[in-house]
Amino acid sequence: MPQYILHINGSQKTVETEDDTPLLYVLRDNLELNGPKFGCGLSQCGACMVLIDGVATTSCMRPISSIGESKITTIEGLASENGKLHVVQEAFIEEQAAQCGYCLNGMVMASVSLLNDNPKPTDQEIRSALQLNLCRCSTHSRIIKAVQTASKKL
Ligand code: FES
Ligand code: FES
Repeated sequence: MPQYILHINGSQKTVETEDDTPLLYVLRDNLELNGPKFGCGLSQCGACMVLIDGVATTSCMRPISSIGESKITTIEGLASENGKLHVVQEAFIEEQAAQCGYCLNGMVMASVSLLNDNPKPTDQEIRSALQLNLCRCSTHSRIIKAVQTASKKL
């Protein structure tokens, strides 16, 4: 099987897998990074989002062969080395912006991606940035509040 060197969460990992294996499967099955979730498997719910070169991207249909030298960050890689959570993670806890947790990984990663690009988004920009992420528990208003809270701390 082909070998791939991935740049992930600040280190390099070598995995052996087929060219068309989705990135999500490599993260969960080969690297035991279980933060990204399998939801739809069709790039339609956002549960599997990771950052690829800083931009939130679904990983369930992204073949490993397409990653190349890109830098991948999973939710496991957001906290600093001393264990301090990312400001977005802190804000989600502060605002209690989760119920079942199905959408949580994707919501956090999409929010980090948005604030990387636009630290002071309007409410409409927050809604647009999160519109690809499905929440079946209707936690949307708390999630938007969490992004606003994180934005104020940046
Ligand atoms: S599992 Fe990837 S978008 Fe739903
Ligand atoms: S908290 Fe359950 S899907 Fe969003």
